[in-house]
Amino acid sequence: MTINKHILLGVSGGIAAYKSAELVRLFRKQGAEVRVVMTKSATQFISALTFQALSGHPVHTELLDVETENAMSHISLARWADCLIIAPATANIIAKLSHGLADDLLSTLYLAATCPVYLAPAMNQAMWNKAVTFENIERLKKHGVKIIGPEQGDQACGETGFGRMSEPVDIYNHLTDTIEPQTPCLQGIKVLISAGPTREPLDPVRYLTNRSSGKMGYALAKAALKAGAEVTLVSGPVALISPENAHLIKVETAEQMYKAVLSEAVNHAIYIGAAAVADYSPIVINSEKIKKQGEQTTILMQKSKDILAEVSALTPPPFTVGFAAETQDLEAYAREKLTRKKLDMIAANWVGKEQGGFDSEENALHVYWAKGDKTLAMTDKTKLAEQLIRLIAERFNNE
Ligand SMILES: Cc1cc2nc3c(=O)[nH]c(=O)nc-3n(C[C@H](O)[C@H](O)[C@H](O)COP(=O)(O)O)c2cc1C
Repeated sequence: MTINKHILLGVSGGIAAYKSAELVRLFRKQGAEVRVVMTKSATQFISALTFQALSGHPVHTELLDVETENAMSHISLARWADCLIIAPATANIIAKLSHGLADDLLSTLYLAATCPVYLAPAMNQAMWNKAVTFENIERLKKHGVKIIGPEQGDQACGETGFGRMSEPVDIYNHLTDTIEPQTPCLQGIKVLISAGPTREPLDPVRYLTNRSSGKMGYALAKAALKAGAEVTLVSGPVALISPENAHLIKVETAEQMYKAVLSEAVNHAIYIGAAAVADYSPIVINSEKIKKQGEQTTILMQKSKDILAEVSALTPPPFTVGFAAETQDLEAYAREKLTRKKLDMIAANWVGKEQGGFDSEENALHVYWAKGDKTLAMTDKTKLAEQLIRLIAERFNNE
């Protein structure tokens, strides 16, 4: 996704000021132009040079800047901006903006700005909970200012509560969703998605399965629907509500998933294999409950059919996207799978303790295709799915 926008970032004086450097990087990476305005106090927390290097432009700190062409930075910057985001927004700047004070560059250009304005507050929890701060925020909201966060958690001052600035990636996602609304990038395209785990029965009461919750696959189905696609979702057993308007096919075993996906794939332009299909399933399914016997037991298993490889071998094949969950050598394993299974794209993620992925609300993805790659930073699965769907649409429309 390319963002053809002028982003004006205001940085005020709080501990979280260092985090906004990442915000500049995220916007620049997507092609947005970024200019930075810092309050005097912000320059004591992080150097203007950092923002200058990241934005590629001198940082503005002075209301009266004799160096600028017409000594009216506040007007020219306000005209230039498609969006003003103040992150972090201190209790002080919030109070000034809510009362229309204009005693420095940032507060003055807020008054001169006609573009959408966003604030990401960051402060000690007691400051945030103070009635006067609440009133200031409410006043600003009434005047159309959008507030992002703050979040709950541990604070730099050692306290816990609401007041932490939202993470840069969350601020970035929030802004991109609103300032650059996406045209439906998969309008009318038929997309097949497989999701969730499979269950491989051993006997009438036992089965082998895995920790996949299906959340990523379901989020992808919702994102594809939002992007205008016609979606078929082949789902293993999950505890999730089926996305409205998706054609849902419920399966249990790897064999059932294979049959359902293969019969549907021929009618779809894109296949996204997000299910965690069992690699092996028991050869014999006992018709009666297996009794407890010796100290050890052996289950003879047979390799499951390779759904992804068979889908990509169809003539013509749909645009095929695989997933890889790895605990080591992520890129090497993902690229090997991409080539061996003749996929168009592969989305890889780390799994294991503290890595997100399986059965978690958040995830990060490293996406690879023959001639490129892209990292989608850790965020909730809804946002991540939307980003992945946009990337898939971009590659699909290119090929
Ligand atoms: C170490 C330190 C950390 C601070 N952190 C914050 C903060 O996170 N949020 C806040 O609203 N004020 C914070 N302050 C207070 C502001 O820096 C102070 O109110 C300042 O006047 C804000 O100026 P500005 O809004 O023009 O940037 C902090 C002060 C110090 C000394």
